[in-house]
Amino acid sequence: MGPAHIKTGYDVVIVGAGAAGLSTALGLLDAAGSGAKPSVLVISKLQPLRSHTGSAEGGIAASLGNEEQDDWRWHYYDTVKGGDWLVDQDAAKLLARQARSTVIGLEHAGVAFSRREDGRISQRRFGGHTADFGGRPVKRAAYAADRIGHRILSSLWQQCLKRGVTFADEWYVTDLVLSATGTSVEGLVALDENTGTVHTIRARALALCTGGAGRLFHTTSNSWDLTGDGMALALDAGLALEDAELIQFHPTGLGHTGILLSEAARGEGGVLRNADGDPFMHRYAPRHGDLAARDVISRSIAAEVDQGRGVTDPGDPDGPRDCVWLDLRGISAQVMHARLPQVDETIRRYAGLNPGHDLVPVKPTAHYMMGGIPIDTDGHVLSWQGGQAQVVDGLYAAGECSCVGVHGANRLGGNSLLDACLFGRRAGSDAYRFVTMPAAGGGSHNHELLDQRAGRRRQDVTDLLARAGKKVEDPGEDGDRRDSTVPAPEDGNPYRLAEQLGRLMDRTLAVRCEAEGISSALNRLDHELDPAADRLHPHDPSPVWNQELTAVFETRSLLRLARAALQASLERKESRGSFKRLDYPHRDDDNYLRHSLVNRTGHIGWSPVHIEDFPPGSRRY
Ligand code: FUM
Repeated sequence: MGPAHIKTGYDVVIVGAGAAGLSTALGLLDAAGSGAKPSVLVISKLQPLRSHTGSAEGGIAASLGNEEQDDWRWHYYDTVKGGDWLVDQDAAKLLARQARSTVIGLEHAGVAFSRREDGRISQRRFGGHTADFGGRPVKRAAYAADRIGHRILSSLWQQCLKRGVTFADEWYVTDLVLSATGTSVEGLVALDENTGTVHTIRARALALCTGGAGRLFHTTSNSWDLTGDGMALALDAGLALEDAELIQFHPTGLGHTGILLSEAARGEGGVLRNADGDPFMHRYAPRHGDLAARDVISRSIAAEVDQGRGVTDPGDPDGPRDCVWLDLRGISAQVMHARLPQVDETIRRYAGLNPGHDLVPVKPTAHYMMGGIPIDTDGHVLSWQGGQAQVVDGLYAAGECSCVGVHGANRLGGNSLLDACLFGRRAGSDAYRFVTMPAAGGGSHNHELLDQRAGRRRQDVTDLLARAGKKVEDPGEDGDRRDSTVPAPEDGNPYRLAEQLGRLMDRTLAVRCEAEGISSALNRLDHELDPAADRLHPHDPSPVWNQELTAVFETRSLLRLARAALQASLERKESRGSFKRLDYPHRDDDNYLRHSLVNRTGHIGWSPVHIEDFPPGSRRY
C-alpha cells in the first residue's frame, strides 16, 4: 500500500510536473468543463516547484505584436527555417497560430509577465525571431524579467492545486507497462522515494511529460534531474525515439558550470568577444550578429576556440582556453536589475564576477533535445512499425521528452515553453476524450502484467540495497575530468558513472561530431560503461529517501539514451541545424530530409518530414 491519498488506479496518470505535465492536467480539466471529472494523478520525482521549467529564463514566443508589428506567419516561417527545414510544418503552423491564445491563457492563469507602460505584456528580441519572413529582427519573446519559467511553473501548479489535482511528489517511475501487444496502456510501476517501496498504478490513459536529458553531457544548462527518464521508459517499452541525435547547445553557458545565461542578455545588448576583444559574431553572421540562431553561434564559438582565440575561465585558471567572453558592460545597472536579475545573480554567485565591470566567460552548454518520443499534434504517442505510424491507445507525451516535430534540427528560443504549454493542453484534452468515449480503451486490464513487472522491480530494489554498505572512494579533487582514459568506476557509484558518461558525451557529441569519435564512444559503452552499470548500487542500505538509489535508475536511463543518441548520430550522415558532422559538413536534403527513429536494439528507421508551405531552403531574403 502507498500513502493513503494515492490510489492503485486512475483514469489518467501524468508523469512529470513541469509546464508540460501541469498543462496536460489543466487541459484535461478544461475539456471536462462542468461535467464529471476523470480521476487524475500527477506523479513527479520532485516536488513540482523544483521542476526544470522553473529555470527557463528569457521568454515564451508569440506574435502578440505588443512592441512592433508581428504576424504568426512570420513566427511559423522562422520556426521552420530555424529548424533547418526538418520541421513538421503542420505542427509548426499550429504552434505559431496558437501561440497568442496560449500566452493569453497563461496570463489569465496568473503568470506575472513584465508589463509595458500601457499595461500590455512586454516582449524582447531573441535569436532567429524576425518580421517579414526573415526581413528584420522583431521583439517576439514575451517575458517576466528573466524568470519566465519560474512564473509559469508557479501559476500552473497553483491552478492545479485549486482545481483539486492529486500529486504523488517524489515518486520515481521505473516501468511503463503497455499491453502484451504494445498497442495500449496498462499502467506503471513506481518507487515511492519517501519510503523506498515499489507500487503499481493502473491507468486508462498515461502521459509522459518528464522533460529532457541534458545530463547526458557534463556541461549542461539542465538541472541534475534532467536524466531522460520518460524517453528511457519509452525505449524500454519497445517504442522508438525520433531525432535522438538532434541536441541543442546554448552558446552562453557560464564558464565552468554550464549554467544558462539567457539569450535575453544579448537581446538587451550583450556582446560576445574573443581573446582579442573582437566582437566576432558579425564575421560569422553579418545580418544577425550576436542574435543569430543558437547553432550558428555555438559553432562560431567553437571556431574561435579552434583558431586559438578562446579564453580561459578565470574560475578554472588551469583549464583549457575553451570559452569566449560575454560582455554585458554596456547594459545599464537599471536594465540589469529590471530585466536580467537572474543573469546578474548567476554571474555574481557562481563566477564571483560583476557583470557591470567584468567580462564573463561563456561556452556552449547542452540545453535542449529537439528529438524525443514521437507524437502527433494531439499528443498521441506513435509507434512505428514497418514504416507506418500507429497510435498507442491511451499513451500521450508532451514537452521536451516528446517530439511533435516543431523544432526540427534546431529550436528557436522561446518555442520550448510554448510547445510544452500548448501541446500539453492538447494532450490533456484528447486524454479526456479518450477516457470518456463510450467504448473507452485503456489496456487489457490484465493486472498480471503490472504485478509481474512490479515483482521484478521489487527484487531489483532489494538486490541494490543489499549491495549497499561499500565505501565510496574519493575520486580526488578533480576526479577524472580531463582524462578520457580513466576506467569506469568499480565502486558502484552512480554519480561517478554519470559523470564519466557526461565527459564522454561532451567529447563526442558536443557541438560537432564525426564517425570515428561516435564509434569509439559506442565501443566504450559496450565494453566499459554498460558493464559498470550492472555493478551500480547505493552505499547506504536504507530504503528511506535514498537518493543514490534513484540515481542508479537515472544513470541507467542516461546510458540507454546515450546509446540511442550515438547510434542515430552515426546514421545521420549530413550536417543540419545543431547537428554538425565534421565528416559530412553539408546539409543533404536528398538523403536526410527525414526524421530518424532509433529503438532499444539500435535499429534505425526513418519517417518523412511534413512539408506544407515552405520548401526546404526557401528564402525570402
Ligand atoms: O536563453 C534563454 O533564455 C533560453 C530560452 C529558451 O531556451 O527557450
